[in-house]
Amino acid sequence: MSDSVNEQIKFFLPGPTYVPQDAREAMTRPMVGHRSAGFKSFYLSLAERLPKVLRTSGDAMVATGSSTLIMESAVVSCAAQDVLNLTNGAFSERWHSISRSVGKTADKVSVPWGQPMDPEIVRSALRRKKYDAVTLVHNETSTGALSPIAEIARVIREESDAVILVDTVSSLAGARVESDDWGLDVVLAGTQKAIAVPPGLTLFTLSERAAERAAKVPHRGFYTDLLRYREKHREGGFITTPAIPLLYALDVQVNRILAEGMEARWARHEQLYRRTAEWAASRGCTYASAEGARSVTVSCLHPPAGVDPQAIVKGLAARGYTIGGGYGDWKPTTFRIGHMGEVRGSDLEALLLEIDQILETVAAPAVR
Ligand SMILES: Cc1ncc(COP(=O)(O)O)c(C=O)c1O
Repeated sequence: MSDSVNEQIKFFLPGPTYVPQDAREAMTRPMVGHRSAGFKSFYLSLAERLPKVLRTSGDAMVATGSSTLIMESAVVSCAAQDVLNLTNGAFSERWHSISRSVGKTADKVSVPWGQPMDPEIVRSALRRKKYDAVTLVHNETSTGALSPIAEIARVIREESDAVILVDTVSSLAGARVESDDWGLDVVLAGTQKAIAVPPGLTLFTLSERAAERAAKVPHRGFYTDLLRYREKHREGGFITTPAIPLLYALDVQVNRILAEGMEARWARHEQLYRRTAEWAASRGCTYASAEGARSVTVSCLHPPAGVDPQAIVKGLAARGYTIGGGYGDWKPTTFRIGHMGEVRGSDLEALLLEIDQILETVAAPAVR
């Protein structure tokens, strides 16, 4: 639980995020063989708890590799040929690049950056053409927009039998994600965001439906074959040598997350977002993401008029604090506060106070 963290958090990147001391220390445990009985029982115990975080009664697995590996694996393994990529920012665009680069026939349906994906646009696209898979991003870390995944998944189910591949990289364990209840086929999330483990692992689900489809896809690769992952996972292990120290850190964090409780964790993130929004409004900072679709884990903000966002990022760095700059096309105009993982209200208050002081020096009239 977050109260069990005893350091003040000054690291507010929208990933990687602050990792608690006990999780960092767990990584220094002596090495063991990944095919040993000891490791197998460790992994089986971890695997028993992961479905509670991913909200599935099916397989909840871990891969050594960052989220992009499982984005690519999901497309390679589960999409026979035709893929629809829903895009509204840099990471949803990445699904499109991936789909094309592995030889799928990929179409893209886009809404402007900062907007959530619109279920009715998805419906129209599915009426125009039959797709084997649809990709989407729940929480666009580049813009801070949260898309209505449950509603989009319902539309996809109404209009097609495409498998639904969802990136929850910066939402899982921060915002509600219901893999089973929302009918999602692959849900994936790297460990370096709201799970608060260092980068290098990806958690993911694979529904029975997706597994059946994958079985009919002929060239799934080796490192990208999700059925191979599932087979090894069910035996209590990995397809290759896993990043064992990161798994030790994950074990600590999964316990912390479950001790806090998923609902309580989502509520804490909602509270962090609300406080950031209230502060932003009172300081002349405006959200770059659309109202009603704002992320609870990352706030992507325009500074007050006349203030360079880099002055805030650099000013904070000089004070020992880290936040994110803008991403891609939005780099010159926005800054991003990652309020996710183990961040508490008191950590956020201290950060906001520092930004206030910086704003006073760089834009005195704008903040009065
Ligand atoms: C929403 C989202 N998807 C995918 C990725 C890619 O993750 P990675 O660089 O760990 O592969 C990121 C990284 O920030 C992300 O925020």
